[in-house]
Amino acid sequence: MRIFLCALLCLAWTFAGANKPEVVLLDFVTSGERIRSHGYPMETHTVTTEDGYVLTLFRIPYSHKLQNQNAERPAVLLQHGLFSNSDCWLSSGPDNSLAYLLADAGYDVWLGNARGNIYSRENEVISLNNPKFWHFDWHEIGTIDIPAMIDYILEETGQSQVHYAGHSQGTTVYLVMLSERPEYNAKIKSGHLLAPCAFFEHGASPVFKYVGALVGTPGGVWNQLLVDTELIPHNALVNRFADTACGEHSEHDEYCRNAFVLFANGGYQNTNVTSLQVLIETHPAGSSSNQGIHYMQLWASHEFRQYDWGTKKNRQLYGQDLPPDYDLSKITAATHSYSSHNDALCGPQDVDTLVSQFTHLTEDHRIPLQSFNHLDFIVAKNMKELVNDLVVERINSYEG
Ligand SMILES: *[C@@H]1O[C@H](CO)[C@@H](O)[C@H](O)[C@H]1NC(C)=O
Repeated sequence: MRIFLCALLCLAWTFAGANKPEVVLLDFVTSGERIRSHGYPMETHTVTTEDGYVLTLFRIPYSHKLQNQNAERPAVLLQHGLFSNSDCWLSSGPDNSLAYLLADAGYDVWLGNARGNIYSRENEVISLNNPKFWHFDWHEIGTIDIPAMIDYILEETGQSQVHYAGHSQGTTVYLVMLSERPEYNAKIKSGHLLAPCAFFEHGASPVFKYVGALVGTPGGVWNQLLVDTELIPHNALVNRFADTACGEHSEHDEYCRNAFVLFANGGYQNTNVTSLQVLIETHPAGSSSNQGIHYMQLWASHEFRQYDWGTKKNRQLYGQDLPPDYDLSKITAATHSYSSHNDALCGPQDVDTLVSQFTHLTEDHRIPLQSFNHLDFIVAKNMKELVNDLVVERINSYEG
């Protein structure tokens, strides 16, 4: 099964690289439509980055339950993980998902979408079919996309700071932003890192063993083949496979359960299956192969540092043989970390390393339930009590 998954991953990758298929998006409910269907007001905004990417932000400006459109509403930006998009903050519905809980607590909620995902697949100068479109990884999402979103939100709302919450890669890009562009610390009122990912030395997921070994060090054949392509493209074929395995009425849900070994040490018990089925419609959502390769490099090097292009290009780009580290001591914004024991990607020992280097971290919260895994922060039946209520409470504490 594991081999099969890996083969599929590689196939999807290679397929995308070799043939550049037309991207066929199936009909799906967008984040915006989903928000409206639950009765909330919704706005769609686009932000163009300095390098031309057009990013979509969905906004829940206020709660129809509170009718607080004329009250002061502090802004919160929510940022999704790898392979994901803004749907991850909505899929468990108004009673459980963080976006709605924050709206109902009086916040102006903005849902970000990183370059490359189904909501942010446009660039004003580079065509989607040009490999240059995919020449980025989460370094650029952290140093360009998130700052652009924050500046846009501050401009639109007239506020001077935002609250930020991210899941998985949404935490990596926060760390990258604040260490590489420390002036953004002043624009963050508080940051909330769900399943924080920076170090991967102890990653238990088979993805490290099978994929990391192939692409974790620069210069290899797989590396050359896979760089600058779309990683698991969001097209009809991939989506059909995901839907067959994990969708409603699936007769093959052992595949879906098995896919969970990538994120959890066998833990599937907390999953809200209905929520997962909602997510499957728009996932995997599209990302660059470089994002995956960069993570595998962190696994191989045990360091949290920039993309490794090999000695020659590193010297040109960075003026040194090895890529520079992200300096976590530069992060001074009030930041809360929420991590879990059964996370096979960003597990407790690697969180320890993060905490030890994150000198100004405000809080290191460990989810007390042992079985809680990486995806549970997004799709667990019990994530409201174990995660989201805490996040809302912490954010409230900065508003007095
Ligand atoms: C599970 O997800 C469904 C679909 O969004 C939602 O309606 C339901 O309230 C969720 N239940 C829990 C306990 O999270």
